[in-house]
Amino acid sequence: MKRSLSGIQPSGILHIGNYFGAIKQFVENQDKYEGFYFVVDYHALTSLKDPKALRENTYNAILDFLALGLDPEKSTIFVQSDVPEHTELMWLLLNVTPVGLLERGVSYKDKVAKGISANAGLLTYPVLQAADILLYDTNIVPVGKDQKQHIEFARDIAVKFNETYGEVFTLPEPQILESVAVIPGTDGQKMSKSYNNTIQMFASKGQLKKQIMSIVTDSTPLEEPKNPENNVTKIYELFASEEELAAMKEKFAAGGYGYGHAKKELLNKVLEYFGEARTRREELAKNPEYVEEVLRKGAEKARTLAIAKIKEVKKAAGLLGDV
Ligand code: TYM
Repeated sequence: MKRSLSGIQPSGILHIGNYFGAIKQFVENQDKYEGFYFVVDYHALTSLKDPKALRENTYNAILDFLALGLDPEKSTIFVQSDVPEHTELMWLLLNVTPVGLLERGVSYKDKVAKGISANAGLLTYPVLQAADILLYDTNIVPVGKDQKQHIEFARDIAVKFNETYGEVFTLPEPQILESVAVIPGTDGQKMSKSYNNTIQMFASKGQLKKQIMSIVTDSTPLEEPKNPENNVTKIYELFASEEELAAMKEKFAAGGYGYGHAKKELLNKVLEYFGEARTRREELAKNPEYVEEVLRKGAEKARTLAIAKIKEVKKAAGLLGDV
């Protein structure tokens, strides 16, 4: 069976961009592929320096995974830092990774362009991601479009290692669904944990209302017709049937229908869409022993595979290992 693997950073609270761009595909892949899904807390260290927030975000992301349908009976669910072989492999990969490749990294370049002094963790972030992927002989990596370059880097690094030491690594393929590749945020830009433009599946009802009401629209008066392709319909589209979407667009085109009305409809849809998951999440939150058990078992299973792979990699590179 082919392997599907992906990770999410606990650098903030997960949002509908993470869900539609990634987690929904993880859940759908569960019956087709052997799955490995994890929260990449080591990656989050590159930007988040608040230990309490990191701990809470990591735990919350795991609750989100489980509430949204990741099933520990089908997939291996774990926290990256519970499997130290990820960082161990990173060192081996760093030594075949050209610095020039990393300097072309989009998120690294963004930080530098903004005048932020990037740390070495940020520069080498894609190598840790490559280690995450290559450690498990991954075939498929379900992600949003913003991760395309990182998967290409993982392939480049795997090729470099294989050329140097022999065929050790499988080359991964990204799985990016065009229709949900870039989910827009409340400001119309890509939704992102770091842009303050997110709609969060499991925010309290009051917060969710606030997030949806903050969607940026123009100031066309209520009576007048409006462009049906606006920031509200772009998000409504994710939750509504074709007929419901067409009906909303018609109302916008006809006039007499305001953005406030549409936002209310959207809020109800979001609450309905994630209703069952919200209930499941509340139940899970009351059962930390169960969640800890899932993580313990997940890490154990991942480690068994990771240790075997690391032995193979070390041997190929001439490290004595195996003691
Ligand atoms: P992260 O935490 O930024 O995002 C997690 C996943 O959500 C997707 N995503 C989106 N998709 C569509 N529209 C959006 N607005 C949107 N925002 C986020 C991302 O594409 C991603 O799939 N570097 C990765 C984490 C990572 C990883 C890995 C991924 C570490 N190791 C190994 C795959 C395999 C990241 O920062 O994702």
